[in-house]
Amino acid sequence: MSSQQTKAKKTEQPETSITIKVSQEKLPVGVMPPDFPEDYVVGAVTPFLLSSEFVGETPHLPMIDLALSKEKAVPVQLWGMLYKNWVPNPEEEGRSVFMQGYENRGPDNRRKRIYMSATTPDLIDQKYRPKIQLFYKRFLSDSNAGKPMMKHYFENYYDLYWNLHVGAMGDEIPDEVRQFSEGFNATLGFWYPTTEMVCKALMQARATREVLKAWLDKRVQKIMDGKQPDEDSTFVHYWLKNGQLGENFRRIDIVFECFHNFLAFSQWANMVYNVAAKLEPVHGDPAVRVRFDQVMKDPDASDGGAFTPLDRLVMELFRVISPNGGSFSTMARNRAMLGTAFSGIMTPHLPASMSPLHWQNPTEFDPDRFKSAPTTVDNDEAKAHQVGLARCPFSKASFPVKDGRKVTMTNSAFGAVYSEINGKAVPLVDTAGYAPFGFGYRRCAGEQLTVEFIKEFLRHVWKEKVSFSKLDIPVASKQPVNPGTVLNDDIAFNKAK
Ligand code: HEM
Repeated sequence: MSSQQTKAKKTEQPETSITIKVSQEKLPVGVMPPDFPEDYVVGAVTPFLLSSEFVGETPHLPMIDLALSKEKAVPVQLWGMLYKNWVPNPEEEGRSVFMQGYENRGPDNRRKRIYMSATTPDLIDQKYRPKIQLFYKRFLSDSNAGKPMMKHYFENYYDLYWNLHVGAMGDEIPDEVRQFSEGFNATLGFWYPTTEMVCKALMQARATREVLKAWLDKRVQKIMDGKQPDEDSTFVHYWLKNGQLGENFRRIDIVFECFHNFLAFSQWANMVYNVAAKLEPVHGDPAVRVRFDQVMKDPDASDGGAFTPLDRLVMELFRVISPNGGSFSTMARNRAMLGTAFSGIMTPHLPASMSPLHWQNPTEFDPDRFKSAPTTVDNDEAKAHQVGLARCPFSKASFPVKDGRKVTMTNSAFGAVYSEINGKAVPLVDTAGYAPFGFGYRRCAGEQLTVEFIKEFLRHVWKEKVSFSKLDIPVASKQPVNPGTVLNDDIAFNKAK
């Protein structure tokens, strides 16, 4: 065969581009309303339609390999809510640790350690608890009894949120800031950018974001200037002191974390609703009710192990409710075409928490499982060897805080960060069978605060003799809570006289 014959035939390119005309009735219809703003369609809807979400493996160890990355691991339709030009611009507009790959976080997950210096158990106990208690007092006040309760939750939630971050409440919170928060929450909950609801909410968040950022920047300055009363009861105080405005926690990052945290905090509402649903006498879970009554007789007893009876009850509620469905990562690609840049993979939580590989009795409601579960303190080098590894996946490192407290942020062999306060470790359960707060180096930075938030809920319910009842209402109002979750506001609380 001559070389002339083997040569591939060159495809002839037309000189002008070809447009295939499709008649109007053959175009896709019904994907979204026709009047969505153009930038919204290009920035949110199209990338969303091109994206996919895959299910990852259920972990056997309490960690996620670095191959599944946190770098820009944000569902693609949300970028426009966070950044001006609909695409991530963390260098110029700020970033959250939540969306940063391990390799970019500074030495030994430094950004995470700085973040968590503001959420350690000593601060929860001394600085944040009164704020949480005030929230429950207002939310569960007599005047709100007997009515759908989540509406009242949200009437008070934004005050708690800003009080914890920058010490602001009530009139100190501008209208635009409240509008941003509502838009942010509705975008998260209703999720699908093809719906009118999400379009309106996301555009509302965009329209108010610059006012919010300017307000936050002023609040940060006030704390820096020492003009904020009780400044050491705000997250920003600790981020300033321990990040020292360095590259791993810049001023724009503090501002960004302050509003990005709506994503994290949104899950509190989901948890409060679901705990109330479990305690409801007719439709709830009898096993939870029995345990609740037992535990609340002596919630803080020291009965061995790292956790009190109330800690264990709340942790078990988190294991079975699992308000956060999975840990979202971006993937490296070997071969793929359209849309991969927008896609991600979810490491599932509930299957891990319910796996018979991790527990003898996974389906039982048994808070005592945490009496003997391995913790971040147990998971050291010896443990890494025991599970067949030649070394710790994450070597031990210590970050002493710089805000005057005797607190060190350290980590388990699998990367989970926890604190040592006045020389005493305050551990977390560290097993793949306890998944509600994720795994390893990227595990939730607000876990202990969140557990205390629910503990305070249960204490209040017990002390004030609060009960819950499912309401028989034909059309309950919808409350968006965490990503992709909208609740029917159909539970009321009541108080014994
Ligand atoms: C019910 C409440 C909450 C649940 C169920 C929850 C759950 C989680 C989960 C599963 C992750 C891991 C995500 C992943 O690896 O992709 C995570 C990460 C994170 N959470 Fe939470 N969270 C809650 C509340 C909070 C609160 C109140 C805060 C802040 C005070 C917070 C701050 C964070 C941060 C900063 C990360 C990123 C950690 C990292 O990548 O290193 N969370 N959370």
